[in-house]
Amino acid sequence: MPRFITVEGIEGAGKTSCLDLLEQRIRQRGHEVLVTREPGGTPLGEDLRQLLLGHRHDGMADDTELLLMFAARAEHLHAKIEPALVAGSWVLCDRFTDATYAYQGYGRGIDLQRIAALETWVQGERRPDLTLLLDLPVEVGLQRAGRRSTPDRFERQALTFFDRVRQGYLSLAASAPGRFRVIDAGQSLDQVSRQVTATIDAFLDSADPG
Ligand code: TMP
Repeated sequence: MPRFITVEGIEGAGKTSCLDLLEQRIRQRGHEVLVTREPGGTPLGEDLRQLLLGHRHDGMADDTELLLMFAARAEHLHAKIEPALVAGSWVLCDRFTDATYAYQGYGRGIDLQRIAALETWVQGERRPDLTLLLDLPVEVGLQRAGRRSTPDRFERQALTFFDRVRQGYLSLAASAPGRFRVIDAGQSLDQVSRQVTATIDAFLDSADPG
């Protein structure tokens, strides 16, 4: 049975290298895998991503931001994720609804119940089978991210915002230990890669034993 895997973490956590490694390990086991991202993943979703991350609408209301995230997600599920899973492909997604809980919920302060209502509406029963949370101190992550490019609408947020996001992610992980694996992403690239490899290999073993 194909599996739906997501990768989460604050900015600068190292999601890209983690996704590359996961894709490689999953393919080595002979599975098809679709790699995608949120917000985005479809032409409409990528347009919404530009609206969400760009600076044209800096003063966007928190509820607008939340609804646009879920609009992009609805399209993504409909046009890409569900068809891929039905066709037997694994799906590897750079962020998903945990990011909405972490950023719009814990970060912006939107009631988590409202996010849960949208989650049920848009996703029905669909949830990731496995989520890797790359956890690291906010200062370290932002320093790494800052070296890359000009900050987007989220990267411009204060340190305290990202502290709430990080703690939010850790609370989510604690409340769903069966689905989450927390990776210590503050370590060297080599050590992080080793943790990620061990995690995905164990998951692959349990997904198709023998
Ligand atoms: P990234 O995928 O390049 O890290 O950037 C996406 C940004 O969007 C990141 O700052 C997190 C944010 N985001 C949310 O606030 N809510 C969401 O539901 C998702 C998927 C992303």
